[in-house]
Amino acid sequence: MAFSASQEHSKLKLALLDSALQKKIGQGSHHRGLFSALSINRACTWCFYKTDKKDLSMNVFIVYAHPSEDSFTRYVRDSFIEGLTAAGHSYIISDLYKMGFNTDMSEAEYYREANYRDDLLLPNDVATEQNKINSCDALVFIYPVFWTEAPAKLLGWFNRVWTYGFAYGNRSMKQLKKALILCTAGHSLQHLKEYGHYNAMKTVMLGDRLFDRAKEKAFIILDSTAKSDMKVREANWDKHLKTAFEAGHSL
Ligand SMILES: Cc1cc2nc3c(=O)[nH]c(=O)nc-3n(C[C@H](O)[C@H](O)[C@H](O)COP(=O)(O)O)c2cc1C
Repeated sequence: MAFSASQEHSKLKLALLDSALQKKIGQGSHHRGLFSALSINRACTWCFYKTDKKDLSMNVFIVYAHPSEDSFTRYVRDSFIEGLTAAGHSYIISDLYKMGFNTDMSEAEYYREANYRDDLLLPNDVATEQNKINSCDALVFIYPVFWTEAPAKLLGWFNRVWTYGFAYGNRSMKQLKKALILCTAGHSLQHLKEYGHYNAMKTVMLGDRLFDRAKEKAFIILDSTAKSDMKVREANWDKHLKTAFEAGHSL
């Protein structure tokens, strides 16, 4: 994990969690049952979870974009949340497909952005997403790579939510403590690096969209998960879910 630990998580607790996780992995007869054994199936469309560890915990906003619950990415989301909550963080989540988030910029929105008119009102759904960001300490994006990008649903979210006067210009967006991109990809990391796709995606997400909007940023790709080779996909399944859990736990 690229984050330096700014929180003082108990080493003992981490060791215990890791050994519990290893035990579950050893016991798991089928990968789809592994993390449900850790009772993770609580990341629905829109939920809020509170813990009593106020001193160390962060409020985390997860922006999730995958069109299907019958996907590997859904398990990544659940494992990440399991790690996050085990570490004592609270979270809110926008599941963009389930919410039916409107990704089409209206002509009025275009006019506002193109003419730098932050005096003009924003649509309610956009203002709601911006309020969620400003109510949190960290922002996490979880999605599958589609054509070397985020799904159009998430691109549309950026088009509409990253508005003038909020994300740029005279910004009202807070500077977040942390931001994390956690995405699944069909290709291997080696392939993505060889053809420049990895750097392209990282540059766009961390270098442009997040830029200095978060103090600490990380980009994690869970690779080789395409259904074109089910053996490879299954071989990577548990390892990637453990990475997702740890990314949540060490956020
Ligand atoms: C329309 C579409 C485009 C995709 N494009 C890419 C791509 O450009 N690069 C890549 O590595 N994987 C690509 N994939 C594979 C996805 O990242 C895949 O969904 C991922 O392995 C996660 O699996 P899941 O859909 O079961 O969650 C694509 C998948 C779809 C459906």
